[in-house]
Amino acid sequence: MTEARETLDRLWKPGCEFLGSEVAILGGAMSWVSERNLVSAISNAGGFGVIACGAMEPERLEEEIVATQALTKRPFGVNLITMHPKLDQLVDVCLAHNVSHIVLAGGVPTSAIIKKVRDGGARAIGFAPALALAKRLVKMGIEALVIEGSEAGGHVGPVSLTVLAQEILPHVKGIPVFVAGGLGRGDAVVSYLEQGAVGAQLGTVFAASQESIAHENFKKAFLRANARDAVTSVQLDERFPVIPVRGLSNEGSRRFLKLQAEMVQKYQEGELSKEDAQLSIEHFWAGALRRAVIDGDVENGSVMAGQSVGMVKEVRPVADIMETLVQQAVEVIAKRDHRVKDLG
Ligand SMILES: Cc1cc2nc3c(=O)[nH]c(=O)nc-3n(C[C@H](O)[C@H](O)[C@H](O)COP(=O)(O)O)c2cc1C
Repeated sequence: MTEARETLDRLWKPGCEFLGSEVAILGGAMSWVSERNLVSAISNAGGFGVIACGAMEPERLEEEIVATQALTKRPFGVNLITMHPKLDQLVDVCLAHNVSHIVLAGGVPTSAIIKKVRDGGARAIGFAPALALAKRLVKMGIEALVIEGSEAGGHVGPVSLTVLAQEILPHVKGIPVFVAGGLGRGDAVVSYLEQGAVGAQLGTVFAASQESIAHENFKKAFLRANARDAVTSVQLDERFPVIPVRGLSNEGSRRFLKLQAEMVQKYQEGELSKEDAQLSIEHFWAGALRRAVIDGDVENGSVMAGQSVGMVKEVRPVADIMETLVQQAVEVIAKRDHRVKDLG
C-alpha cells in the first residue's frame, strides 16, 4: 500500500506543487456554498479550497478572504467571474490580501487581467471547454487549467469529461491541467491522473459536507438524489436561448418550462417583444441558488448539483471525505499493480 501511495503522490506531484497543498484536490468554487467554513475545511484537510466570489462586492470579498485566513494557514484560492463589472477591483482585493491563486471563471479572461494577476504575485487559473481555447489561454499566459465536463454541477458546457480529457490532456504541454465534473471517487481521479491530469476539482461531494453552510434541506435533497436527477436546464425554443445549468429537477424547473412556453406564445401572438420575452426567461432563476442553499427552498430554488450527487450518501466531515478519496485512489493503484504482477 505504501508503494501505491507513493505512486499516487508521484502522479499528482505537479498539482500539489502548483497549489501548495498535500493532495491535488480542489474544492470547486460554489456560489453561496464556498465560503470561509467550507474553504478552510478543505484546505485544512490537505486539499485546496476556493472561495466563490460570485456577485459579491469587493468589500464583501475582502471580508470573506480575511475570515478564511483566520481559519486556515494553508493556501486557498478565489474564484472570480470574468464578467463581474468590478473584476479589476476584485483582483486588487485578492492581491492586497496575498491570495495565492485566482481562478478566472465564467468566460474567457483578457490577457490584461491574467497579467495583472501574475504581476501581482498570484497564480492565474482558467477554464478550457475545448482544445483551441486551452491553447489560446496558454499563449495568453494562464498558468493552469481546469477542464470541466458536462457531468458537473452548476453552469456546464456540452461535452463530458471523458471526451474533454482525451481531446485536451495529450495536447496541452507546459502547464498543469486539473479535471472536473462527475468525480465522486478516488479511483476515477486516478484514471485521469494516468491520462496526464495533475489533480481534480470536485464540487458536489463537498456541498453536502458537514462544514458546508448549505441549508439542511439542500443537503437532504443531495442525499435523496440519484445521478439521473441532476439534469441540465431545458431550452424549449431555439429562438430563446437558455444557459445550461445542471441541478436537481424540482417544481422550479417544471415552472421554468411552463414560463418558456408562455413567453414563446406571447411573442408569437405579438403580445411581447422578443427582448422582453428573453428577459423574463433570463430573470426566472435570479436569486434562485441563494433560495435553495441559504433559505432551504429546494422546491422552488435552484439546487445546482452534478451527476456525482448519486454518490453522496451521508453528510460527512470534509476531512473524512478527503481521506476516503485518497484511500480509494491508493487502493485502485495497489489492485492494478497486483493485477499486472499476476499477469506477468
Ligand atoms: C451548487 C454549485 C454551485 C456552483 N457555483 C459555481 C461558481 O459560482 N463558479 C464556478 O466557477 N463553478 C461553480 N460550480 C462548479 C464547481 O466549482 C465545480 O467545478 C463542479 O461542481 C465540479 O463538478 P462536480 O459537481 O461533478 O464535482 C458550482 C457547482 C455547484 C454544485
